[in-house]
Amino acid sequence: MDKLVIQGGVPLNGEIRISGAKNAALPILCAGLLAEQPLRLSAVPHLRDVTTMLELLGHMGMRIAVDERMNVELDAGDIHTPEAPYAMVKTMRASILVLGPLLTRFGHARVSLPGGCAIGSRPVDLHIKGLQAMGAEIHIEHGYIEARADRLKGARIFTDLVTVTGTENLMMAAALADGTTVLENAAREPEVIDLAECLIKMGARIEGAGSDVITIHGVERLYGTEHRVVCDRIEAGTYLVATAMTGGKVRLANARADLLEAVIEKLREAGADVEHDADSIGIQRHGTLKSVNVRTAPHPAFPTDMQAQFMALNTVADGIARVTETIFENRFMHVQEMRRLGADIEVDGHTAIVRGAPHLDGATVMATDLRASASLVLAGLVARGDTMIERIYHIDRGYERIEEKLSALGARIKRVH
Ligand code: EPZ
Repeated sequence: MDKLVIQGGVPLNGEIRISGAKNAALPILCAGLLAEQPLRLSAVPHLRDVTTMLELLGHMGMRIAVDERMNVELDAGDIHTPEAPYAMVKTMRASILVLGPLLTRFGHARVSLPGGCAIGSRPVDLHIKGLQAMGAEIHIEHGYIEARADRLKGARIFTDLVTVTGTENLMMAAALADGTTVLENAAREPEVIDLAECLIKMGARIEGAGSDVITIHGVERLYGTEHRVVCDRIEAGTYLVATAMTGGKVRLANARADLLEAVIEKLREAGADVEHDADSIGIQRHGTLKSVNVRTAPHPAFPTDMQAQFMALNTVADGIARVTETIFENRFMHVQEMRRLGADIEVDGHTAIVRGAPHLDGATVMATDLRASASLVLAGLVARGDTMIERIYHIDRGYERIEEKLSALGARIKRVH
C-alpha cells in the first residue's frame, strides 16, 4: 500500500490550481441518469471516488467517455440495470445518490444500503422517508433498498436533519415527478447549488437552491447540457490551513472565497492575511499562529469537512482551542494519530480541547478517513523530522495529486509504494 513521507518545517510558497469539487461531481454524475441526451461535464476531479462512481454508472449501462483532461460525457440511453451492488456501494457511500434518479426516471431501483464508515453510522433514513412521501414503495431486504414507483408525485418534505446528499437525492427525484415538491430544512451547501444549476440547464424547474426551502416543479423529461463542476472549497480550505500552519505565501487559482466565508474568518482570527478576487484566494502568515475555536454546523456555518484540518492547526498554535463536532458522532479519529506526533488534545464527548504545543515530532501515523488523513498531512508539514502516513488511499478519494500540489509549493513530500 502506498505511503506518504513528509519532511516537516518548510514554509509553503507559490501557486496551485484547485480542482473541481468531489461533492458536486458525485451528485452531478448521477444526474446523468435523468437526461435523454448526453450530459457533458468539465472540471471533473480525477479522484478515486469519481472513478468508483463512473464504474457504478457503467455497470448500469451508462455509456461513458472520459478524455485525458477528465472531461466526461454521459449517455443514459441504454441503462439496463437500475441497481447499485453492495460490492461497489461499500467502497463509496455516495452511491446512494443513484437512488433518486433511477427511481424517478426508470420507476425501479435496487440500491445496497451503504455501510457506515469511520466517522459515523451514516443512515439514509431521510432519503427513504422523502421518496416514500413522493409515493415510492420502498422496502429493505437482504441489505438492499428495493424501490418502485410508477411516477413519483410532488410532496412537501421536511427533513428532520439537514442532509446534503438527502437534499440532492430528493431534488433529483422531484425533477421528473408529477407536480411540485417543496424541500424544507434543505441543505444550503454550494454543491447543492451546483447540482441545481446543472439540473436547471437540463430543463428542470427549481427555485431556492442555496436556501433552506427548495421548490421543484416536476417536468416530463430532461435534456443533455454542458456543465463545469464548481471548484472544491474543502480542497481549497485544506491548502489555506496548510499555509497558515507552515508560514509562507500561497495563491490558489480556481478558488472562490464566497464558498469559504466561515473558514476564511477563522483563518484571519488565527493570524493569517487572506485576500481574494472572484476566482482566486491568497494567504500569507507572518507573526504567531493563534488558537481558534471551531464548532461545525451545516453551511454557511463552519463545515465539518474542515474540522480535522483546524484541529491540526490548533495543535501548533499559541493558546488553547475548543473544537466541537456537531454533525457526525465519531469524527475525532485523527486525535489518536495526532497525539502520536506530540499533540496535546483531550476529548470530552463532541468537544476536543487542543493545547498548542511548541512543535510536533514526526512519526508513523495511519489515515482513517478522508479529512482526518488530510489533517495528518498538515501536521506532518510542520512536525520536526519525518512523518510517514499509511493507508493513504483515504486521501486519494478526495484530494487530486496531493503530493504533487504540495511539492509545487515547496513541501518535502513523496509517495512511496
Ligand atoms: C455529505 O455527506 C458529504 N458527502 C460529506 O463529505 C459531508 O461531511 C457531509 O455531507 C456534511 O456536510 C458528499 O456530499 C458526497 P449528511 P452526507 O446527510 O450527505 C445524518 C467528505 O469528506 N443523516 O449531510 O452523507 C448523518 O448521520 C464527506 O467529502 C441521517 O441521520 O451527510 C449526519 O449526522 C464526508 N439520516 C447528518 O445527518 C439521513 O438519511 C448530516 O449528514 C441522512 C443523514
